[in-house]
Formats: sequence, structure tokens, C-alpha cells
Amino acid sequence: MQKQDVESVVAIEQQVQFHPWTAKQFHQSMQSHQCTVLEDQQQVIGFCIMQPVLDEANLLLMAIHPQYQGQGLGYQLLTDAITRLGEKCVQIFLEVRESNHVAIALYEKIGFHQIDLRKNYYPAPNHKKEHAVIMVKMTNDDGFGFRLNEYV
Ligand SMILES: CC(C)(COP(=O)(O)OP(=O)(O)OC[C@H]1O[C@@H](n2cnc3c(N)ncnc32)[C@H](O)[C@@H]1OP(=O)(O)O)[C@@H](O)C(=O)NCCC(=O)NCCS
Repeated sequence: MQKQDVESVVAIEQQVQFHPWTAKQFHQSMQSHQCTVLEDQQQVIGFCIMQPVLDEANLLLMAIHPQYQGQGLGYQLLTDAITRLGEKCVQIFLEVRESNHVAIALYEKIGFHQIDLRKNYYPAPNHKKEHAVIMVKMTNDDGFGFRLNEYV
């Protein structure tokens, strides 16, 4: 992500998020996080923000422009961003609104699984709150963890 991409990134963010990040937040993020954009004919159509911390990372935010959703681009963007984290990163955490079934399906397809539920975490319309699903992916996952769970 370059400085000149932020305007397009904010425009996407405002279309898809209930509480969108501001341009200032994206500019700050570029200084310390791994910020990836996906382009189509030099137009920004998606972005992904990862926060690497030692040998872990947090997926803070990602989105695909509404007109480009459902074409495999979210999968492509996230797998690229995970690859860019490098071998040093052994696990990736994220939190997602419980109602965001599309994002949860994408994350599960990529190998994330739920480890916790943070109740009443997100603000929601009509002064309500929504649970956050906490998910993790081991980047060198060979399925061993899942096999262990099956026998517990
Ligand atoms: C979540 C998001 C990034 C997914 O990107 P996308 O490009 O639409 O997703 P893809 O086309 O790559 O689909 C990948 C997988 O997601 C799931 N998925 C995508 N669209 C779906 C839909 N309409 N219904 C159910 N699952 C869906 C499927 O598992 C799909 O895999 P499949 O095609 O093999 O079934 C995109 O919908 C988005 O930007 N949403 C708004 C912002 C957001 O919620 N960000 C995540 C939280 S910060």
C-alpha cells in the first residue's frame, strides 16, 4: 500500500464497514503494519492489514470492493498477505463479527478455526452489541492439531 492508495482504500472501507477506519488510521498503519493492496488495471480493489508481533500476526482488517466480491479475490489477497508474512510467522489471529458469515467462510477455507467467542464486543445498529468470533491459523498447519482434537 502506497500513500496514494489510501483514498481508494478509505472509499472501499466506507462501503463495507459499520465503523470504518479513517484515512489517518490507514496512514498510521502503513508505518508499522504489513499493508497489502490488490489492484485491477491500476485501480485498488481490495486491501489487507496485518500486524506482525514477534512470531505471530493479527489480521486487523481486510476488504474487497463490493463490485469485485465473490470472485475469489478475497482468497487470493489473504493468501498473498499470509505468504508475505514469511516463515517467521507461526500463527495468525483475527476477530470477526459473528454475523459476518462470508468472512468466516473465507477464513475457514484458508485454515482458520474458532478458538473463542468475545461476547458483546462490537458496536451494532440500534445501540446493540455483537459477539466477536476469535480465530487462529497455524501457518505450518499440517492438520496435526485437528487430529489431536478428534481423539480428546
Ligand atoms: C469477506 C470478503 C473479504 C471476502 O472476499 P471475496 O472476494 O468476496 O471472497 P472470495 O470470492 O475470495 O470467496 C472466498 C470464500 O469466501 C466464502 N464466500 C464468499 N462469498 C460468499 C457468500 N456470498 N456467501 C457465503 N460464503 C461466501 C466462500 O467460502 C468462498 O469460497 P468458495 O468460493 O470456494 O465457496 C468480502 O466479502 C468483503 O470485503 N466483505 C466486507 C468486509 C469484511 O467483512 N471484511 C472482513 C472483516 S474485517
